[in-house]
Formats: sequence, C-alpha cells, structure tokens
Amino acid sequence: MKTILVTGGAGFIGSHTSLELLNAGFKVVIMDNLSNSKLTAVKRVEQLTGKDIKFYKADLLNKDEMRTIFSENSIDAVIHFAGLKAVGESVEKPLLYYKNNVSGTINLCEVMTDAGVKSLVFSSSATVYGNPSESPLSEETDLSATNPYGQTKLTIEYILKDIYYSDNEWNIALLRYFNPVGAHESGEIGEDPKGIPNNLMPFVSQVAVGKLEKLHVFGDDYPTRDGTGIRDYIHVVDLATGHLKALEKLQEKPGVEAYNLGTGEGKSVLEVIKAFEEATGKKIPYTISPRRPGDAVVCYADASKAEKELDWQARRTMIEMCKDSWNWQSKNPDGYV
Ligand code: NAD
Ligand code: UFG
Repeated sequence: MKTILVTGGAGFIGSHTSLELLNAGFKVVIMDNLSNSKLTAVKRVEQLTGKDIKFYKADLLNKDEMRTIFSENSIDAVIHFAGLKAVGESVEKPLLYYKNNVSGTINLCEVMTDAGVKSLVFSSSATVYGNPSESPLSEETDLSATNPYGQTKLTIEYILKDIYYSDNEWNIALLRYFNPVGAHESGEIGEDPKGIPNNLMPFVSQVAVGKLEKLHVFGDDYPTRDGTGIRDYIHVVDLATGHLKALEKLQEKPGVEAYNLGTGEGKSVLEVIKAFEEATGKKIPYTISPRRPGDAVVCYADASKAEKELDWQARRTMIEMCKDSWNWQSKNPDGYV
C-alpha cells in the first residue's frame, strides 16, 4: 500500500482527494496549518471512508515540523494543495502570498529531497494563462500572471521544472485546475469559504440558503452569448480523481508535465444560475453589477492532454455540480461549525 502525504488536505480540494485516495486503498497522511480549514473536514473523510488519516497540524514554513512528518512516515509521493488562494488578498498582501506559497513550496521540496521522495503532484491553476484572449486553452498556451496569487503559481511551476532539470529522478505533475465547484455526494464535505464568498458557486449557494440576499452578476456587456463571463466549472470529485490518475502517471516516470483539468466546456454566469435553479428548485435573485476588475471574459480548457495521457475525463454535469453544492450548503448552512 502506498502512503501519500497530502499538504492542505483539510481544505476543499484536499479533503475530497484524500477521500478518493483512501477509497482507492492508499494510506493518507495530511499536513495542514488549518489557516483556511477545519479539522472536522478530516474527521468527516474518516467517517465516510471508515479509514484513519494520520493528521499533522503543521506549517509549510516550519521545516522542523515538515521533517518530522517525513521521518515518522514512509512517504511515497506528495500531493501539494497547501497554499493561500484569494486573488484580492494577494494584491493587498503580496509578501504573505510569496512567502506562504513560494517559500512554503521550496521548504517542502528541500525536505522531500533530503528524504529521497521525488514524486510530486502540484495544485496549479488556469490562472497561469493570465487573461487569455481565446479559449480553449491548451497546455502550450503562453503563460503569464495578472496578480500576485497567479504569480506564485507560475513561479512555483518554474521552480518545479528547474528542480526536474537539475535532477531527472524527480517526477512532477503540474495540474492546472479550471473552476472547481460541487461537493461530495454525501453532503458531508464541501467548500467552506471564510466570510462572503469571492467565487460564483459558493455565493449562489449562500443566496439559495438565505444567508445572502442576492447575487451580483459582474457585468452583462462582455462579448459572449449572453454578455456574462464564461468559465469551465469542474466537479470537485472529478478533479479529485484526476489526482489519482496523475499519481499513476508518475509511476511511468514522465519527468515534469502540465495537465489542464477542466471539462472543456464553458458556461456563462446566467447559465450557471439557470442550472442551479433547475437542479434545486430554488430561485436565485440577482442584479447586474459592474464588471469585476481583472476578470477574464472567457476561460475554458482544452483537456485533451489529460484524456490522452492520464486516461482522465471530467464526467459530472453542471446539474450534478449544482445539486451537490446545494446538498452540502443546505446540510451545512454555516459550513463546518
Ligand atoms: P483551501 O484553502 O480550501 O485549501 C488549502 C489548504 O492549505 C487549507 O486547508 C489551508 O489551511 C492550508 N494551508 C495554507 N497555507 C498553509 C501552510 N503554510 N502550511 C500548511 N497548510 C497551509 O483551497 P482549495 O480550494 O482546496 O485549493 C487547494 C489548492 O488548489 C490551492 O493551492 C489553490 O491555490 C489551488 N487551486 C484552487 C482553485 C479553486 O478555485 N479552489 C483553483 C485553482 C487552483
Ligand atoms: N461572478 C459573478 N458574481 C460573483 C462571483 C463571480 O458574477 O459574485 C462571475 C465572475 O465575474 C466570473 C465567474 O462568475 O465571470 C466566475 O468567477 P469566480 O470568482 O467563481 O472564478 P474566477 O474564474 O474568477 O476565478 C477562479 C479562481 C481563481 C483563479 C481563477 C483563474 O477563484 O483563484 O479562477 O484560474 F485565479
């Protein structure tokens, strides 16, 4: 049985991936400083799977804590989710983001090197395509960043590539997620943003549950089919299974490779609202507000590389994404309390 260290495993995507890993027979060690998550998520993954997780409350910035994890466990590979992810906050606090995300990843890679663990799956983002002028986006699209958060993802990708070029024993998958939404079908784990959500689906769910009055649609004058922004929403469980496929791929010693994880299909904001209403029977009041600065017009994936090389495809529909988001939100109106 393989042992996987999941950094940031108490978070939204990390908890769903840990569940899939346990169900597939892996042993899971989670390290998380709980800066944006709760231990309850880990407990619920244990309950759902009937399996134990070894949990460390530890920080990427504390190398001693990281070393302890590697000395106490026989880690075969690392899936690295831990990081800060709020674009607006990154503009206000760039140093926090560079320190946490970039220095934290350098620490992790140093400790991995010392421990002789050289298999890594990294949470990158479609944000590395900057503000794209056209979609679908293949992995060959030029890379750029439009904010400090995006710059940390891009910088980490370059660092990881250089690590591989310096030492070919490393095998690294750079997974570029599009827009993860939804929740596990049980409704026991899901996305639990702090404060008012920045992202569309959690905002819509909180309007539906009555916590927020109405949605602000950021702009209806974009050059799209209905004037609202288009994104590639992907169910978090599909995303989670992509990580298991990436781990399998690392066995073939591919070196360093980037993969888009998306459905390949774009949905507009108004289409998401309509699907949510259809899936849940809840009315979503909304108003048209000004464009949000920095927003891309259209962003969706060409996910054919992941299909071809990882044998992975997103399977769940927008209706399932909405149903599962709502199931989680309605069962846990205040998140993990
Ligand atoms: P999340 O905030 O729910 O999970 C991240 C976890 O990392 C949290 O539990 C947090 O407590 C932990 N963490 C942060 N800094 C840490 C540190 N220094 N030491 C230890 N733990 C730390 O976010 P998520 O949505 O699950 O995202 C996971 C990863 O995927 C992140 O790297 C994020 O940038 C990336 N990503 C997310 C999205 C998205 O829309 N959710 C899109 C693209 C990429
Ligand atoms: N939107 C609204 N109202 C809201 C929130 C969002 O109309 O209250 C719109 C946005 O304008 C956009 C779409 O809904 O057109 C999706 O917005 P999200 O904030 O959910 O997602 P983004 O694509 O803007 O951002 C996500 C991640 C970022 C990442 C980026 C690029 O949250 O971290 O994808 O990969 F940088």
